[in-house]
Amino acid sequence: MLRTPMIVVNFKAYRESLGKKAIELAKIAEEVSRELNVSIAVAPQATDIRLVASSVSIPVFAQAVDSTTIGALTGHVTIESIKDAGAVGTLINHSERRVQISLISEVVKASRELNLTTIVCADTPEVTAAVAALNPDFVAIEPPELIGTGIPVSKAKPEVVTNSLDKVKSVNSKSKVICGAGITTGDDVRAALRLGTVGVLLASGVVKAKDPKKVLTEMGNALIGKT
Ligand code: G3P
Repeated sequence: MLRTPMIVVNFKAYRESLGKKAIELAKIAEEVSRELNVSIAVAPQATDIRLVASSVSIPVFAQAVDSTTIGALTGHVTIESIKDAGAVGTLINHSERRVQISLISEVVKASRELNLTTIVCADTPEVTAAVAALNPDFVAIEPPELIGTGIPVSKAKPEVVTNSLDKVKSVNSKSKVICGAGITTGDDVRAALRLGTVGVLLASGVVKAKDPKKVLTEMGNALIGKT
């Protein structure tokens, strides 16, 4: 299980986080994690999971899983293949990769059997409640309209985060809540923790930063309460 509080960096399909650049970015995250002793995980594209997982010691996540079975499946990312590639978990149902609740349920169940950590994404407090019932390790509340805007959910829509926390707690107190969308500074991370989450899920604020190490260090310091 991922140590909390935590920062999860979603590499998405940005040019800045593809192939060799995925390794460079993951190594920066590993450096900051080691220097500050903070929990940072990365989620590279499926084709880079093995490359990244063999290059760093921090947790590596898949961005999505298509199937919990193996066999005659063309073009699917299977849960067994991400495990074999070195992933320790997977995001599921990101707003840029929505899946049916039946698949979310299957992936959460199969992940438990394979000792993989699950971070199920949700776009509203109501959806956080629905997916919390499936018993994932983490639920990530991310209002899609804030994604990539630099307008942090933790400041712009704190009520979405606190409502999600309340709903998840009432449905399944074992699932922990992180938040994402527009998180770009240490202060945004501090705000997320103050609201009661155990961390953040982010992408462009680090992946597209001029100095990703500077941004991640600022966020890491926020995670450990340093200004
Ligand atoms: O998975 C996190 C992502 O959707 C948030 O995007 O660029 O606003 O940090 P961004």
